[in-house]
Order: sequence, then C-alpha cells, then structure tokens
Amino acid sequence: MSELEYIVKPLLSWYDGHARILPWREQVSPYRVWVSEIMLQQTRVEAVKPFFERFIRALPDVQALAGCPEDELLKLWEGLGYYNRVRNMQKAARVIVEEYKGVFPADFQKLLALPGIGRYTAGAVGSIAFGLTVPAVDGNVLRVLSRVTASDEDIFKQSVKTSMERKVAKILPKDRPGDFNQAMMELGAVVCIPGGRARCEVCPLASGCKARLLGLTEELPVRKAKKERKVEKRTVFVLRDGDKVAIRKRPLKGLLAGMYELPNLSGSLTQEEALDYIKEQGFSPVRILPLADTKHIFTHVEWQMTGYMVSVEETKDRDPEGLFFIEAEETQKKYPIPAAFAAYARSMDIVLGQEKYEDAELQ
Ligand code: ADE
Repeated sequence: MSELEYIVKPLLSWYDGHARILPWREQVSPYRVWVSEIMLQQTRVEAVKPFFERFIRALPDVQALAGCPEDELLKLWEGLGYYNRVRNMQKAARVIVEEYKGVFPADFQKLLALPGIGRYTAGAVGSIAFGLTVPAVDGNVLRVLSRVTASDEDIFKQSVKTSMERKVAKILPKDRPGDFNQAMMELGAVVCIPGGRARCEVCPLASGCKARLLGLTEELPVRKAKKERKVEKRTVFVLRDGDKVAIRKRPLKGLLAGMYELPNLSGSLTQEEALDYIKEQGFSPVRILPLADTKHIFTHVEWQMTGYMVSVEETKDRDPEGLFFIEAEETQKKYPIPAAFAAYARSMDIVLGQEKYEDAELQ
C-alpha cells in the first residue's frame, strides 16, 4: 500500500464539508473547467470569479471563443494578465472546432496536445469534467504532498513533479478523481498554505503529516531560487494633444504582444533627453511634467519606469512610429492597455484591472 493511501478518505470527507462554492463547480462542463483552470493559473480564486462570469457570458462555448475577434478577446482578459494564455485558448478552441467538431476530447493525451494545455490543466479538465483517473498536480498540490511526505526535494524540478504525479496516480479514487484533485488543491489553497501560516489545527491530514511530526512545515516545500529577473529601465510618455493621448499597438510577437501601449522606449531619460526624443518624433512639445517612477514585474523581466507627461501642439492623426491619438475613455471600450502602464495610464484617466504577478504555472 502506498504511503499516501491514508489521505484519500479524510481528504474527501473534508472536501465534502468544506469545498468552496465556485461558479465552475456549480455547473460543470469541460469548457467551464478549462476556462477556470487557465484563469486560476496565475490569479487567486476570489479575483477570478468576476472575470470568469464575464468571460462565460461573452463567450459561452468553444465556438464563440474560436470566432471571437482578437481585440475583443484581449479586452475580456484585461486585468488577468499573461495574455498568451487567452491567445492559446483561442488556438485550442479552433482545434477543437475543426478537429473535434466542437466537442472536447475526453482523453488525457489529446487534451495535452492542445495549445496552452500542460499536464496540470489536462489533468484538471480530464478528471473534473470527464472523470478520468489522472492526476492534476499544481503548486498547491506539490506543497501538500511535500509536507505530508516530508520531502525535501526541489519542487521546481520536473523530475520531482513527475514523481509526485506518479504518487497521486497510485491513490486516485476511480469513483471521484476530480473531487480528489480539487480537494488537494483546495487544501493547499486554504489550509496547507505557504510558510509559517499553515493551519494544521484544522487539517484533515494532520495526524499522519510527516512535516508536522518533524516540525518541518515551515521549511517545506523546497523551492530552489530561480534565475534572477532581468531589470530593464524604460521611459514612458503620456503624450497629450488637448484631451487626446497617444497610444500605439505593440508588435504581434514577444512581451505583451498585440496590446496597445503608451509610447515608451528603453533607458531612463532625463527631462532634457525626453524633450529631445519627443522633438525627434516630429512633435512640438509645449509643456513637460515628470511623473512618479514606477515598476512592473513580469515573469522574466522587471521594468523600472520613468514617466513624463508631455503636451504637444496640434498633431496629425498618425506618425511614422504607429502612434495615434485617442480620447482617453476610448481605451476602456476598444484598446486593451496592459497593467504595466497602470500608473501612467491613470494620469490620463484610463481605468485598468489589477494584474497578479505570481509565478507561472508549475508544469
Ligand atoms: N486552483 C486551481 N484550480 C482549482 C480548483 N479547481 N479548485 C480549487 N483550487 C484551484
């Protein structure tokens, strides 16, 4: 018998009494589970709820998602961040429509082959929506497992994740694989929480938990330091012409691909350099105002930003750099501006959602 077999019954009984009521649990379908799991990869449950409802209302099925114009799609995702997630979802939706006649495949390998779906997501959709006996091991589950077994192996290593998946696969109950997987995630999210805050006194697995027995809860799991983030200085402009502000579309590849942005360039410019730059772009600046420094953390890079608000004299609609001037409130309806620019966008009254900056999905 597996060393973990003992957790199955108490975990499921605990889940029966403590599972949070969540929109994607109330009404289960492969599409709803998939959308929720992708949103939950980098964002907390409470924050996801309103985004989930809005997304499902706008795009109720894979067909709607497959056919949604890109700007509308990015707008629906605004505030969640990591926009490639939703681009991949659309790619996957198109495959499902074209290759599977719009019906999700009830098969782990076929799910895994879809764009943006890794082992965790394929496991979650497979087990929760289709009742497949497959593990779904995310960061929360890795923490629970590391503690229950007092494993000091580095959970950032793929080999460790694979070994944890095997352990789960051995004990997954055939009648309730989805509930088991969700119960593990739930326990990790609300009871077996990181650092010294674990709520062992209410944990259904406490009596057999090796970390607790050995006083190692706070030390586990082991997560070896990742590569340091690159720091990049940038200068951002709120370029105004009367009530209008300049924005441009980012390239279709790379960081924040295809999003709209405030004009910006590499380096931290002084006020004089900033003015020179604006003139070089063919504008006649009439006033410049320094804005507060801010930073934004992406997965692999941190932007440290200097900002200036520059008023310019009458401009033509477009300049060679792809800049165009819009009424500030237009961005709310039409132009998704990523939260990296939030601090500066506020000075032009653009409303933005809050992005979360957590680590990428552990898969
Ligand atoms: N985190 C990600 N997916 C989850 C789920 N289905 N239940 C609880 N927490 C989660």
